[in-house]
Amino acid sequence: MADSRVYRASTTAPVNIAVIKYWGKRDAKLNLPTNSSLSVTLAQSDLKAHTTASCSQAFSDDDSLILNGEPSPLTTPRSQACLARLRALRKILEDRDNSLPKLSQWPLRIVSINNFPTAAGLASSAAGFAALIRAIANLYELPQSPTELSAIARQGSGSACRSLFGGYVAWDAGTAADGNDSVAVEVAPASHWPEMRALVVVASAEKKGVPSTAGMQQTAATSTLFPLRVEKLVPARMIAMKEAIAKKDFATFADLTMQDSNSFHAVCLDTVPPIFYMNETSRAAVRLVEAINERVGRNVAAYTFDAGPNAVVYYLAENEGQVAGVFKSLLGDKDGWAGDRGTQVQEAPIEGLDE
Ligand code: DP6
Repeated sequence: MADSRVYRASTTAPVNIAVIKYWGKRDAKLNLPTNSSLSVTLAQSDLKAHTTASCSQAFSDDDSLILNGEPSPLTTPRSQACLARLRALRKILEDRDNSLPKLSQWPLRIVSINNFPTAAGLASSAAGFAALIRAIANLYELPQSPTELSAIARQGSGSACRSLFGGYVAWDAGTAADGNDSVAVEVAPASHWPEMRALVVVASAEKKGVPSTAGMQQTAATSTLFPLRVEKLVPARMIAMKEAIAKKDFATFADLTMQDSNSFHAVCLDTVPPIFYMNETSRAAVRLVEAINERVGRNVAAYTFDAGPNAVVYYLAENEGQVAGVFKSLLGDKDGWAGDRGTQVQEAPIEGLDE
């Protein structure tokens, strides 16, 4: 007899912002990176993807996705790779236990909302794919760990693998040809360094010019600085960054974060044709952080920029006034000021998941 029930699971996934950047693929099909990366997970209710996955034998349509109220394709090779893998894992459970409903065979309906500036360099694909994978894994009652699920999320969007964890997260590039060791692992929970704060300076909510997938392929193919970054700079920074986090050494954390952001934007500029993600507002944010650090006499703030002009500024709660206070007084906070370029400043605590 046909089963008319609708099975459903909902979840959220947070945005993560890398302090050591992923930029470059050694295998585009499996989405394997040329270097390891490390991120901090932001906790703010409006910087999360909220996703519901449902399936039913009664659904007669194909798999579908409604993203922010609009139908969106689920037929891309990346989405298909993720869905196929999740269905295969569910099928293993169904084959083992005949009484389980055959969810793996039924169409999926996914509804996802992320109201933050999509594709403006605020890692929307990271939160989006992480929430998609987790929602379906919950729906299918999969026993896989977040690290195992991260290998699936990675195939959706590389940075998504890091959004399956809270706190401080490393994505190990791995060496295996099949990519099974290219996974995210928790470096430290958010509770390890609860004083850490992040400020998001939204310089532009417009869609970025060069999407990260295309941009990083161009950089890997044409930048002469890129091999130095991948072979020497990033491996050394990964070690130093893990150490700085372990010791809660903010000055070193800040140095490494700013150096790696600048190194990433330098290889973008060194790409043929050059890629520009930072704009005048971004450079003003850099100068402001420099001025704050100089005035205090040590690093109390660290900027980083992804593939877009928006800045994320890390600082410790004890320096709130000197960092967030200065940014807000100059740029205004999100409720008040919307300057020439619509710059907004929002604070985000660091997210801890499953703690
Ligand atoms: C600059 O994860 O969006 O944000 O794997 O092609 O989907 P794909 O790329 P994506 O790239 C993110 C690049 C970055 C740096 C980072 O998050 O580490």
